[in-house]
Amino acid sequence: MPTTNKQVLLARRPYGEPKEDDFSVVDTALDDPREGQILVRNRFLSLDPYMRGRMNDAKSYAAPVALGDVMVGGTVGEVVASKHPRFRQGDVVTGALGWQEHALVEGASAGLVKIKERPGVPLSAYLGAVGMPGVTAYHGLFDIGTPKPGETVVVGAAAGAVGSVVGQLAKLTGCRAIGIAGGAEKCAHVVKDLGFDACVDHRSATLKDDLAAATPAGIDVYFENVGGPLLDLVLGRINPFARIPLCGLVSQYSETQPYGVKNVVSLLTNRVRLQGFVVSDRMDRWPEAQQRLAGWVAEKKIVFRETVAEGLASAPRAFIGMLRGENLGKQLVRL
Ligand SMILES: NC(=O)c1ccc[n+]([C@@H]2O[C@H](COP(=O)([O-])OP(=O)(O)OC[C@H]3O[C@@H](n4cnc5c(N)ncnc54)[C@H](OP(=O)(O)O)[C@@H]3O)[C@@H](O)[C@H]2O)c1
Repeated sequence: MPTTNKQVLLARRPYGEPKEDDFSVVDTALDDPREGQILVRNRFLSLDPYMRGRMNDAKSYAAPVALGDVMVGGTVGEVVASKHPRFRQGDVVTGALGWQEHALVEGASAGLVKIKERPGVPLSAYLGAVGMPGVTAYHGLFDIGTPKPGETVVVGAAAGAVGSVVGQLAKLTGCRAIGIAGGAEKCAHVVKDLGFDACVDHRSATLKDDLAAATPAGIDVYFENVGGPLLDLVLGRINPFARIPLCGLVSQYSETQPYGVKNVVSLLTNRVRLQGFVVSDRMDRWPEAQQRLAGWVAEKKIVFRETVAEGLASAPRAFIGMLRGENLGKQLVRL
């Protein structure tokens, strides 16, 4: 039985972009599981933009991480010891077990789910296309975006974990899927590998014209992952009765002076429905979404990329890089 555990703690609340010394990597003593507990060896850690919000001491839909606590995060791992009847040694589990190599948890914890491995669906996919980001794309696009065949769906951060699935779901629905991503390499991946109809580079000086050329019939659904000036640009091309699932605002999370959206009048004149959502709002959708996403991944109707950092100590650097756009596809850490 392991006796020590490597963990990443929140050492300091960042101002603006996080820095590596906002985190501390520590080795702590690890107890044996008590009655009702299991010990999990985490194999993959998911790094997600929402974690930036949890580093702030601010009111949000979830409580912040306390200073000195283990950073929150989704994991896939293997049960190494169990004193709970639901789990056995060797079971594979996913849950929010945090930035740490091992986790000692109550077997009855909500959100701790045993994974049945299936061909064509690697375990890491349960943190990406078949996990929280995939379910976010599924719920946000289908329940809030309500796309219809022939409509134009635009998504920001299109080469990332959520955006890559949104565009592929839009294509499976018979829509025109347009991505917005940072740089020519990501845009090429979005079109060639993910099968979007077009992708425009948000860093390009010709972004406005490029978006207009890619959306000749306007925009019916804008899956919002980014925020900032990009939202104003999209609102300039939005169609009457368009839907905007407001999933995230990644361009704003580390801003000390958030961007104020200007083109609000477009929401009114176009009778746009903009709705913020959090994936956990619809836990009832999770099993259906996960099952369908796993099926599409197994059939290669949904494909995905991963950027994998090696070792827990690399997590702070990889997290900062992901917020800057250094990831292609889902950002993970192999533990
Ligand atoms: N509501 C929910 O329940 C929920 C759940 C999951 C995720 N989300 C949100 O969904 C969004 C995407 O999350 P993800 O996990 O899929 O992350 P991701 O897209 O895999 O990674 C983040 C990406 O954001 C893009 N980005 C960063 N700064 C940007 C900027 N200034 N302008 C444009 N793009 C920028 C970068 O891509 P480029 O290189 O292309 O710029 C980067 O790769 C985030 O806003 C996240 O908060 C919401």
